[in-house]
Amino acid sequence: MTSFNTTSLLDLDYKPKLPKNKRIGIGIIGAGAIVQACHLPAYKMAGFNVVGVYDLDKKRAESAADEFGLKLVFESLEQLLKQPEIEVVDIAIPAKFQRDVVEQVAAAGKHILCQKPLAETFEEAKRIVDTVKKADVKAAVNQQMRWSPGISASRSIVRRGLLGEVTQASIQVNVLTEWEQWPWITKINRLEVMYHSIHYLDSIRSVLGVSPEYIYADGAKFPGQKSVGETRTMIHMKFPGETRGFIHDNHNNFAEQEDWYAQFRFEGTEGIIKGTNGALYNYPVGTEDTIQYMSKQIDPSHWFAPKLEGRWFPDAFMGPMGELLLAIEENREPVNSVADNLNTIRMVLASYLSMEENRPVYLDEFK
Ligand SMILES: NC(=O)c1ccc[n+]([C@@H]2O[C@H](COP(=O)([O-])OP(=O)(O)OC[C@H]3O[C@@H](n4cnc5c(N)ncnc54)[C@H](O)[C@@H]3O)[C@@H](O)[C@H]2O)c1
Repeated sequence: MTSFNTTSLLDLDYKPKLPKNKRIGIGIIGAGAIVQACHLPAYKMAGFNVVGVYDLDKKRAESAADEFGLKLVFESLEQLLKQPEIEVVDIAIPAKFQRDVVEQVAAAGKHILCQKPLAETFEEAKRIVDTVKKADVKAAVNQQMRWSPGISASRSIVRRGLLGEVTQASIQVNVLTEWEQWPWITKINRLEVMYHSIHYLDSIRSVLGVSPEYIYADGAKFPGQKSVGETRTMIHMKFPGETRGFIHDNHNNFAEQEDWYAQFRFEGTEGIIKGTNGALYNYPVGTEDTIQYMSKQIDPSHWFAPKLEGRWFPDAFMGPMGELLLAIEENREPVNSVADNLNTIRMVLASYLSMEENRPVYLDEFK
């Protein structure tokens, strides 16, 4: 057996990077379920400085401020934008309202963390990119699964070259999701990919460091389901060369949770990574992500199993905001910039066009 330095092979440097200056003031727009369950707990863990919150429903803003000790609840968006301490605005409202709010925030010269999906159409997404470019502010997207422990650790292994040439990436999920807990989501035509598998598309793109050339997708419903949109999807991705990606996501598994699974796997010419997304086990409490990997470069008979700390929800939410704050500190574009996110939106929209027209759809069809 080859001798190897186990310590460095188990230390995957997967935790979100945080800025040196955590005093940059953050204002939040929208105080709904995701802000209270994930944004604010994660920002508290990271030590970020959330100055205040605004929601059309003032009671929700007040309850978030009470629970997380925020000093200001704003009466209007204008009032939040006039607060000089706020340099970064975290938008957490439904996608259809996002562009209008981005335009106002950018005009006030504040940096922005947009919610995902960035937009439901390519035209809207591009307008957001143009708006922030003209305003010369930094803008990122809260596509946080890239920073979930299992996905971030996988990216680290791939970047170290331990998989050689990556040949395939797959994410397979089989769970029961009660979409009715978000009444608005049951009424939209484009559901699963736009609001859930978008995370898997973005994560695969992030780990591979490249976008697919084309996508072939199928979506289906479960007989009698209450939601209007698709709740089962299969997405095939053709990357340059011999690399392929696959997502199979079923949200209609009525068996006991012991039967649920949420797995990822990356394979290459030299190694394999396999792991689980703990957020979807023991749901809704969740558990830690797991990961195992082997590489022919070290020892093909040895699977490393580094223990991962933290979870997709809420820990990964430190990632997108941390990266935006770091980009401001280092005066560079964030890796999760709105411009970069156009490729994730292309993947989502290519999936839907493929379902509608029953054909492979090239990403460059969205210009
Ligand atoms: N990044 C993620 O992983 C993730 C996870 C879940 C939800 N989301 C997204 O976050 C957004 C919010 O989801 P949620 O579950 O919190 O919804 P929610 O309905 O619980 O909350 C939305 C809140 O936004 C407020 N709001 C709407 N328009 C507003 C406006 N113009 N100005 C101020 N406040 C406004 C509403 O009053 C409400 O309190 C959605 O776009 C959803 O897709 C993202």
